[in-house]
Amino acid sequence: MSEVRRSAIVTGAARGIGRACALALARQGFAVALIDLREEELAATVAEVAGLGVPALPIVADTADHDGAKRHVAEIAQRFGRLDVLVNNAAVPQPRRILEITEAEWDAGMAVNLKGYFNWSQAVAPLMLQGGGGRIVNISSVSAHTGPRIFSVSRFAYSTAKAGILGMTRALARELAPTITVNAVCPGAIETERTRASLGAHYDHVIRETPLGRLGTPDDIAVVVAFLATATPMYMTGEVIDVDGGANIN
Ligand SMILES: NC(=O)c1ccc[n+]([C@@H]2O[C@H](COP(=O)([O-])OP(=O)(O)OC[C@H]3O[C@@H](n4cnc5c(N)ncnc54)[C@H](O)[C@@H]3O)[C@@H](O)[C@H]2O)c1
Repeated sequence: MSEVRRSAIVTGAARGIGRACALALARQGFAVALIDLREEELAATVAEVAGLGVPALPIVADTADHDGAKRHVAEIAQRFGRLDVLVNNAAVPQPRRILEITEAEWDAGMAVNLKGYFNWSQAVAPLMLQGGGGRIVNISSVSAHTGPRIFSVSRFAYSTAKAGILGMTRALARELAPTITVNAVCPGAIETERTRASLGAHYDHVIRETPLGRLGTPDDIAVVVAFLATATPMYMTGEVIDVDGGANIN
């Protein structure tokens, strides 16, 4: 076991928003454990994180695996000696509508998009409590408030899970206070590998509806996640921050 100054876990870190969060935390000196199913892309991101001069630990795992989360968190704690931040980010799209979706598809989506966040939060909480502090940042979506938009890859089941994450965030913020803060970030239309094609097809519409006049980037989300993970003093918990270029101002 080697002691590091601060450490973070980012799920779904191989690409997109998770990758940007892992890099943003590494730039602030965090040792980072990167969790993902995509072995090759994960290795490339791990190399980028390590290139910033911090320890980077790749873990190929499915966040839907409850026992796996506990095993991997024990391994991360053993390797880094401490655990300060969890970014729950791994999620899968669910494009089916209510009249089309099967029970198995609903269950598979919920297993990652909702239960995955529970699995990793439950696995890290005892260590953060013992360590005397911690930050959990949950990546939800503005579709938790609005439902899917014309350009969204996903439909109602995804929005349902993302709304569940907001409830989980508020409830865990109370349960884990005052030692651990739990906050959520809701991205709007962010251009990533997952969304490029569907956003591209509605590019003019998205830009028209976005006061800040551009698509979001993974870095637009990572900067807010890094703030929630590091700002000191910290007097926010159970909060939900929309990062959508103003597209859903109400
Ligand atoms: N891109 C957007 O416009 C947008 C908007 C709102 C919310 N979000 C949310 O932001 C987060 C990241 O989205 P993204 O666009 O970067 O997606 P992405 O598909 O580009 O990246 C997600 C990563 O998570 C990994 N992953 C998926 N299921 C996993 C599992 N079961 N176990 C481990 N890893 C798994 C994938 O392999 C992938 O590397 C998600 O929670 C998503 O719902 C994205």
